[in-house]
Amino acid sequence: MAAYAILAALLATQHMAMAGAATALLAMRIGTSGLQRLVMSINQLYEQALFFNDWRRACNEAELRAMTTEGKSITGPFRAMEVRRVSYWYPGTKVPAVRDVSLSVRPGEVVALVGENGSGKSTLAKIMAGLYVAQAGSVYWNGIDIARANRHEMFQHIALLTQDFKHYPFTARSNITISDTRKSDDVNALKDAVSYADLECLFNSLAHGWDTVLDRTFRGGQELSGGQWQRIALARAHFRDADLVICDEPTSSLDPKSEIQAFEKLRALADSGKSVLLITHRLASARHAEQVVVLAKGRVVDIGAPEELLGRPGTFRDLYMMQAAEFGQADLPL
Ligand SMILES: Nc1ncnc2c1ncn2[C@@H]1O[C@H](COP(=O)(O)OP(=O)(O)OP(=O)(O)O)[C@@H](O)[C@H]1O
Ligand SMILES: [Mg+2]
Repeated sequence: MAAYAILAALLATQHMAMAGAATALLAMRIGTSGLQRLVMSINQLYEQALFFNDWRRACNEAELRAMTTEGKSITGPFRAMEVRRVSYWYPGTKVPAVRDVSLSVRPGEVVALVGENGSGKSTLAKIMAGLYVAQAGSVYWNGIDIARANRHEMFQHIALLTQDFKHYPFTARSNITISDTRKSDDVNALKDAVSYADLECLFNSLAHGWDTVLDRTFRGGQELSGGQWQRIALARAHFRDADLVICDEPTSSLDPKSEIQAFEKLRALADSGKSVLLITHRLASARHAEQVVVLAKGRVVDIGAPEELLGRPGTFRDLYMMQAAEFGQADLPL
């Protein structure tokens, strides 16, 4: 304002020619907008620096919480996974999401993990997959504490199909083969995975077959339904060919026929020597497991063979009867 006032005064007292005043006005305008841009850039730089700091802190935190990359080597065939008195607190929470949980998984076994929403099933699955390191207790793979094992080697033995699996904006092929990039060109493994997840029909309906991008943001891209995505995820888990397959509600979007087939295939996977940790709310499917673990508020409240749990009063039997009653089958089918 002062500069504009001085300019007006100089012009009025004829100390400055009109052309000079106009040039000065223009220069002042350009200077002001330059200054504004500078201030905005400094602002942006500050904001980005905060994000960068957050990212660096997150990386450091992740490194502190992750399994080591230089730990004990995990080799040899899978013999057993033992979860011993494991507890886990999410950062900033006082109540543990998983507390004092013990269970074991052996080759060729399906272990069903059931329980109400928020009971800690997904958290336990991530601890068993080695994504979260438990603050108390340990998980042993063939007798080796996984917190001290080499995480790259450990992860090779595990396939994890999470509840909120990723829908990558990639081709249908990449969406499946991404689970094991070392063999992404293996056509036979891809065909196996596709047939395992009954995806042949879907691929015939895709405009560019396996090379169709599964995202409509891109030209020629196609979107899939929730159930079709879930089949892609099942194929992705199968493609990985791991010793322990952890499936967190793998059939929540499948139609009844596909769901029954999916459970049968998981059973067949176990019969072929793999181990399956199955998290499900469909208790009828838990009947085909070797072992059922019932969680409530992070604790194991019931554990045993399905026949055993159905044979005595308990949470599993109550929930099972409740679901069976929905279909008008109050009698135990075993
Ligand atoms: N990322 C997180 N940060 C903080 N707390 C979390 C986080 N994820 C889950 N929790 C909390 O941990 C507890 C267990 O959650 P979890 O997702 O393991 O339950 P769940 O048994 O898988 O439930 P659902 O059947 O709904 O999938 C819940 O109380 C939840 O609020
Ligand atoms: Mg869950």
